[in-house]
Amino acid sequence: MARPLSLRADRALPPFERLEGTHQRMMLALQQLDELLQRLDSLGVDDRAQTMALDAHRFFEGVGRTHHEDEERHVFPVLLASGDEPLAEQVAQLRQDHGWIEQNWRELSPLLDALAHGHTWVDVDLLRSMIEVFAQMHHAHIALEESMAYPEARRREAEALAQTAQRRAHWVQEAAA
Ligand SMILES: [Fe+2]
Ligand SMILES: [Fe+2]
Repeated sequence: MARPLSLRADRALPPFERLEGTHQRMMLALQQLDELLQRLDSLGVDDRAQTMALDAHRFFEGVGRTHHEDEERHVFPVLLASGDEPLAEQVAQLRQDHGWIEQNWRELSPLLDALAHGHTWVDVDLLRSMIEVFAQMHHAHIALEESMAYPEARRREAEALAQTAQRRAHWVQEAAA
């Protein structure tokens, strides 16, 4: 049985750990969408299917969107500030992905909402194709972020912190001289 999705955001964690944690929760939510399709195929719109649709709908409507906003606030500016052109192109790609994911979500969201309310008119084949695209976009996007954007942003953030610490140490030395 699928584990219930927690809607609690781990606000106490630093941004990168929190963002990676959300990726894991996204994978779980995508898995739950797959399980919802299997449920609809075998048993139709029963109580469990309604709950699964509701959980997934809440997750992507809330946490999913907030996650993209967090990345645009915490991760992308660090990468863009580097002035590195290939990196800027990757960021442009990631931003475009966010737009596509949002567009896909706006089409998928009403279908999940209808299922969550027990409606039976939803075309399961159409839902399946939408979920497939939604999942593929997330997988490719998360892979690019975890292999490139997050490590680069972490590295650049650590460099900036080290430079600040060096400057501070220099000022302290000068003040003591
Ligand atoms: Fe993202
Ligand atoms: Fe992400």
